[in-house]
Amino acid sequence: MINALKVLGIKLKSPTILQGVIEVERTFVYLKPDAIYRGLIGEIIHRFENKGLKIVALKMMRMTREKAEELYREHKGKSFFENLMNFISDEPVVVMILEGPKAVEMVRHVVGATDPLEAAPGSIRGDYGASVTKNLIHASDSHESAEREMGIFFEPSEIVDYELEIQRHLIVG
Ligand SMILES: Nc1ncnc2c1ncn2[C@@H]1O[C@H](COP(=O)(O)OP(=O)(O)O)[C@@H](O)[C@H]1O
Ligand SMILES: [Mg+2]
Repeated sequence: MINALKVLGIKLKSPTILQGVIEVERTFVYLKPDAIYRGLIGEIIHRFENKGLKIVALKMMRMTREKAEELYREHKGKSFFENLMNFISDEPVVVMILEGPKAVEMVRHVVGATDPLEAAPGSIRGDYGASVTKNLIHASDSHESAEREMGIFFEPSEIVDYELEIQRHLIVG
């Protein structure tokens, strides 16, 4: 099982079915400037680790306007777009790739709804989010987005494959 997971762990693209039960996949997450300025980097990453997700890539950077526009291209032209660009462009962020069973869906669940007023208590946005714009964190909303967004911020060589022992205990079979 561990060997099988290890093999699946290096798979970057679509989710993979293991023994008809387990999906191991990767998703893209970044911590927005409000998370950095509020000193919540550790708190947020801790939640993903506690949930059993594996960090396979992680770095701090300043978000360029160019990358911000590419990331949010689906929202270009919307009323909040310029505000969002001003909020994140040239500001510090922490970008990462998380891996685990059903990671895309699981991470969105841990992150919570876009509007912190609607996000469930216990979710990151529900517990710490201040407003729709300053909602601390981004997570890919589909496998296709995850693939595209990982490609904006990471070279394949920046992704580190290793075995996270605890993941054996997250799966059935
Ligand atoms: N109505 C809004 N007013 C202000 N900012 C918004 C609004 N809708 C979305 N945003 C900002 O744009 C980001 C991207 O929006 P969206 O993709 O809908 O949400 P999510 O981040 O939950 O996937 C949000 O996280 C938020 O920072
Ligand atoms: Mg989104």
